[in-house]
Amino acid sequence: MRRARIIGWGRYLPEAVVSNDDLSARIDTSDAWIRQRTGIRQRHVAAEGQLTSDLATAAAAQAIESAGLTVDDVDAIVLATSTPDNTYPATAARVQAKLGMTRGFAFDIAAVCSGFIFGLTMADSLIRTGQAGRVLVIGAETNSRILDWTDRGTCVLFGDGAGAVLLQGETGTGTTADHGLLTCHIYTDGRGYDALKVDGGPSSSPLVGHVRMDGKEVFKHAVQNMADSALTAIAASGLTPEEIDWIVPHQANQRIIDAIGKRLELPMERFVSTVADHANTSAASIPLALTEAIGDGRIRPGDLVLMQAMGAGFTWGSVLARL
Ligand code: UT7
Repeated sequence: MRRARIIGWGRYLPEAVVSNDDLSARIDTSDAWIRQRTGIRQRHVAAEGQLTSDLATAAAAQAIESAGLTVDDVDAIVLATSTPDNTYPATAARVQAKLGMTRGFAFDIAAVCSGFIFGLTMADSLIRTGQAGRVLVIGAETNSRILDWTDRGTCVLFGDGAGAVLLQGETGTGTTADHGLLTCHIYTDGRGYDALKVDGGPSSSPLVGHVRMDGKEVFKHAVQNMADSALTAIAASGLTPEEIDWIVPHQANQRIIDAIGKRLELPMERFVSTVADHANTSAASIPLALTEAIGDGRIRPGDLVLMQAMGAGFTWGSVLARL
């Protein structure tokens, strides 16, 4: 059985850090409110002129290097982003050029905070059907560009960053002992379209727009859908929750992560959380959390990692992988 195995990983966070206190100097909020309601302490913000493609290229180059390969070994780039450099072409095409890659194909995925899970699922299909041997999956965002910095209900929640993994096809036994992606489940329910959106875009307005969110509605769906898709992955794999080594959820709010822990009845020590330092980096949040835990030695080769996300659309889903 052909599997898509993660063989490299990389990340990039912009240098500038904005603390909660920095924000409370500008708008009517406080460090105490933000920490208590979200767990967020700070967020990274891209420098003026720094593009989503710059963040993505840095993370991707690191992922290729960590696998001991070069761009010539990569067949495809799948870039999950909601903050493209331009309306078109795909930012993935620009990343391809910036990497110096002159072969294969590259495209973007617009599944917002679920983008990395959707991207992994696309890469899994490309690899399993033989369309590509090695695929880069990148989540990259410059959320700071689409925030209304006067809206305290949203601007305190998001940050910028990028994370990437390189996947390679290899033959497995078809059991859960295999390395690679074991299950992928993705979902969309467009009835949630207006609960979280950017209120601009080429066919509806001349403006790029800003993030608008019904926080309570999104919170409710986030807990429900992320927990459900995690349980679906566990059931599909035939494993028990206790056998999962690490849960790497989308990083939107520590209270959402805590609530998922309760529903899965798993101890919080098994969850990777970076929301305090990164805030919500949308499509970049899972690969940033994953690479942090691999980098500090928590996640080790052979570990079973369950990733799940929920985002605007609504979109949601999960991927279970053995590193
Ligand atoms: O990636 C997926 C997308 N995003 C999410 O998953 C986020 C989901 N939602 C959430 O995380 C939470 O709903 C929020 C963190 C956004 C809000 O938390 P909440 O507990 O639902 O607060 P709330 O919106 O009910 O607001 C409570 C109060 C309100 O004041 P009143 O009406 O009770 O007087 C807000 O105006 O807190 C006020 N408030 C703030 N106060 C200080 C809202 N934002 C702020 C703020 N600082 N930044």
